[in-house]
Amino acid sequence: MCLDLIQEMIETKDLTKIFTIKKAADIPAVVGLTLSVAEGEVFGFLGPNGAGKTTTVRMLTSLIGPTSGTARVNGFTVGEADQDIRRSVGILTESPGMYERLSASKNLDIYAHLYDVADVDGQVDKYLRMLGLWSRRDDPVGSFSKGMRQKLAIARALLHEPQLLFLDEPTSGLDPEAARLVRSFIQELRDQGRTIFMCTHNLNEADRLCDRIGIFKSRLIEVDTPENLRKKLFGRKVVFHLREVHPGWLDPIRELEGVLDLQIVDKKLVIAMDNPDILNPQIIRALVQSGADILFVGELRHSLEDIYLQTMRDTAEEEVAG
Ligand SMILES: Nc1ncnc2c1ncn2[C@@H]1O[C@H](COP(=O)(O)OP(=O)(O)O)[C@@H](O)[C@H]1O
Ligand SMILES: [Mg+2]
Repeated sequence: MCLDLIQEMIETKDLTKIFTIKKAADIPAVVGLTLSVAEGEVFGFLGPNGAGKTTTVRMLTSLIGPTSGTARVNGFTVGEADQDIRRSVGILTESPGMYERLSASKNLDIYAHLYDVADVDGQVDKYLRMLGLWSRRDDPVGSFSKGMRQKLAIARALLHEPQLLFLDEPTSGLDPEAARLVRSFIQELRDQGRTIFMCTHNLNEADRLCDRIGIFKSRLIEVDTPENLRKKLFGRKVVFHLREVHPGWLDPIRELEGVLDLQIVDKKLVIAMDNPDILNPQIIRALVQSGADILFVGELRHSLEDIYLQTMRDTAEEEVAG
């Protein structure tokens, strides 16, 4: 893969936002954020409440100015081409406001005009149909469920066909069914090749949808693919299910180079290692030579939640240690 050819849709360098409030301590909401998001990438910005995710999105969409640092979005520089940035990106905010008494199509119509969309009716129709709101297009938004509102808000963010989309907690507050619909729609947007920057505190969501995840709490703590985050923070664990386990079989395995840890759980061996491709065959050979019946072998996947909590714990400990 030639990295030079990949266009960066978002590039930040030391981006920082410190809120200063009279007679109160400063709030360092975002500190020294350096990050790139490539074209076509779905990037998950994962962090707890108050981490500074929304503040970051507001800076990247030129709604508030940074205290220091720089950012380029869609090729435009924050602070220099704010109008271009706002026009070229789509934003789903945390609690999108709608005109409650107006119909779904009227709400979209107003936005399409605001964004100077060329074919207003065509675009409004397209997204009402795509998000399954067509049959309710003439109903006032006040009568919509949370899930329908969220879909309408996503439609609104897409009317001007932005290639870069910011989704701030797109499924928060939705029931499971509505959340599933919104997720599958995000998947569709991704398949269309759009770049998505998605804030979330939902770990499974980030795992399922995102190419890379940045774990963030005022500072960027880790950035990688979900798979690499698992490996990086935990090594890998392989489970060998045996018919029987005899203690005598274990020593030859412990002695193999690269075995980091070995535990016995019922009739399973749980072995931590860095490189299963090399070690698994050696372990299997050793077990068979000892006379073991191997029923099956599988890799134990850590949930992102473990990683997330672990990372947050590590950061807290570092802070305490100073
Ligand atoms: N306009 C503002 N004025 C002062 N403080 C703010 C403002 N917006 C956000 N903050 C503070 O910045 C921190 C990060 O908030 P936010 O970006 O909303 O986090 P998140 O979206 O990750 O939950 C919080 O401590 C919040 O109280
Ligand atoms: Mg937020």
